[in-house]
Amino acid sequence: MSLAEIKNLSVKMGIQEILHGVSLDVPKGSIVAVLGANGVGKTTLMRAISGVYRVTSGEILIEGQPITNMASHKIVERGVCQAPEGRQIFSNMSVRENLVLGGGSHGLAELDKVLALFPLLKERMGQGAGSLSGGEQQMLCIARALMAKPKLLLLDEPSLGLAPKLVALIFQLVARIREEGVSILIVEQNARAALKVADHAHVIDDGRIVLSGPSAELQTDPRIVEAYLGGHVA
Ligand SMILES: Nc1ncnc2c1ncn2[C@@H]1O[C@H](COP(=O)(O)OP(=O)(O)OP(=O)(O)O)[C@@H](O)[C@H]1O
Ligand SMILES: [Mg+2]
Repeated sequence: MSLAEIKNLSVKMGIQEILHGVSLDVPKGSIVAVLGANGVGKTTLMRAISGVYRVTSGEILIEGQPITNMASHKIVERGVCQAPEGRQIFSNMSVRENLVLGGGSHGLAELDKVLALFPLLKERMGQGAGSLSGGEQQMLCIARALMAKPKLLLLDEPSLGLAPKLVALIFQLVARIREEGVSILIVEQNARAALKVADHAHVIDDGRIVLSGPSAELQTDPRIVEAYLGGHVA
């Protein structure tokens, strides 16, 4: 059963159309990856789902109910939370304050559960978020999104700029979050890491999905290996 259905989604910025009829499903309990090079529309897709950008045409359904072009706080209430590209944590606030803000109407109800996933943050609750390392800031960004108890977590390039060891840790966390019952749509340029953890993946190019399939199949697809895995099978 689908948790999220994206149907024929188009997004325009001014007169330029960025997404041209993107369709994809996130089955309940699954991790779905969207892969693609710089500037192909990955973040635009995430922002359209989370209500930051307006959708020109098409539909977004969560558990069969439309959320298309609803206000972003309403979309959060429907169970869709985003860990945005570039993290966008509030660096002049403490870790705790960032988490409180993420909780929204849930307040701190999820705090213990979230901190169980991110024990590192527990030790840094009073610390300014801006003083965290890059990896810790990414954890805070994901933890903040989880505070609102999402059904669907949107992750926009969580591994960007992180050392390989931290990339591995972030992807372990992604797998753990799914075990908690959260479905995940993840955008990544690190195709190798994303395909390892995802059930299903889509490749987007110039605002269109050009290739889709189970991750296990895409990992060995010559087109993926050539263009996204540096010519080496994962
Ligand atoms: N707010 C905006 N106003 C105008 N153009 C935009 C806006 N947001 C995105 N675009 C354009 O849409 C295209 C896709 O951008 P987007 O950020 O979605 O790509 P991306 O795949 O996330 O890239 P990256 O890998 O660099 O994060 C780009 O040409 C970008 O300039
Ligand atoms: Mg992007």
